[in-house]
Amino acid sequence: MAEETTEERNNARLAIMELANMISVPMSLNAIVRLNVPDAIWQGGANTPLSAAEIVALLPSGSDPENLQRILRMLTSYRVFSEHIIFADNDGDNLKVVERRYSLTEIGKTLVTDAEGLSYAPYVLQHHQDELMKAWPILHEAVVDSSSEPFVKANGEPAYAYYGRKPEMNELMQKAMSGVSVPFMKAILDGYDGFEGVERLVDVGGSAGDCLRMILHKHPSVRDAINFDLPEVVAKAPSIPGVKHVGGDMFKFIPAGDAIFMKWVLTTWTDEECIVIMKNCYEALPEGGKMIACEPVLPNQSDDSHRTRALLEGDIFVMTVYRAKGKHRTEEEFRQLGLSTGFLHFRAFYIDHFYTVLEFQK
Ligand SMILES: C[S@@+](CC[C@H](N)C(=O)[O-])C[C@H]1O[C@@H](n2cnc3c(N)ncnc32)[C@H](O)[C@@H]1O
Repeated sequence: MAEETTEERNNARLAIMELANMISVPMSLNAIVRLNVPDAIWQGGANTPLSAAEIVALLPSGSDPENLQRILRMLTSYRVFSEHIIFADNDGDNLKVVERRYSLTEIGKTLVTDAEGLSYAPYVLQHHQDELMKAWPILHEAVVDSSSEPFVKANGEPAYAYYGRKPEMNELMQKAMSGVSVPFMKAILDGYDGFEGVERLVDVGGSAGDCLRMILHKHPSVRDAINFDLPEVVAKAPSIPGVKHVGGDMFKFIPAGDAIFMKWVLTTWTDEECIVIMKNCYEALPEGGKMIACEPVLPNQSDDSHRTRALLEGDIFVMTVYRAKGKHRTEEEFRQLGLSTGFLHFRAFYIDHFYTVLEFQK
């Protein structure tokens, strides 16, 4: 076996220190969202680089600019912000930093509230609520005892039932889903034509109904659109012209449609539960009808690309919060689920880097 070099040992010590301190990254992201820093820098599109002192002037009096700057620096290394440094002079190695200013990168801009009131910020907040955070220190218990997920062990009941009892959690969940789903839908509606000719469409687990609203806008042939979700979720969904909100339980019954859309639903359930949901979809479709699911799809190989990491990290989130045996799946695993439910044809469309469009045809 080749001997490790000093450089390799050095790199390994550095890498493990980075991993061991990694919690600073999501918690800092959560902090800047809670402090409304992205909107403060954006200021209607200006994105003018601001110093921490200038940002702090917009926060409660007594806020600490030095600590904010420490957070901004760290997140700059994750490309959330761009750093603009003003030096005292430029004439040697001994450069003195007079001021640091921060603007938003493309990543940072995803946290800015848009004209529709949406952004990825509610998703960041949703993931870091106390009840969800309580589940993380007992993640190892999902290995030792996978009969219930860490969220249940920490909070006494499953996440969706818990959100259903807490209006503020329910509302944040809907805002988080809208913020993530609207930009994704814009992208897939440009690249996927599977809704053409559909007249009656059901969105299973459609949350606030944003996906249906956008599908209807692009495909006026859809005359009958049903947003199907838990009763407490549809009770809070806004009224959308052309969309009927229907409350129910997808494990019991799914309303009939020419096609069924389902985004980010199968991932949070076990294989056995997915088969129940997919069988109910199958029953709700005519011969030749399609179930169009959009889900994160894992590559076969584990590597260190951003895509693989985002997908594998989401997989652990599902294990911790939703279902110890709910999971992100590979394309082949989805194909097998479709076959075992009775669907005859399966196709996968890789349009977005995070979600894949999966078409199951009866
Ligand atoms: C991860 S969210 C996805 C929301 C939406 N499809 C999107 O992508 O923006 C999963 C959705 O499934 C819904 N859901 C959970 N259990 C359900 C059930 N038994 N019947 C119907 N919907 C359910 C949740 O309320 C939630 O809106």
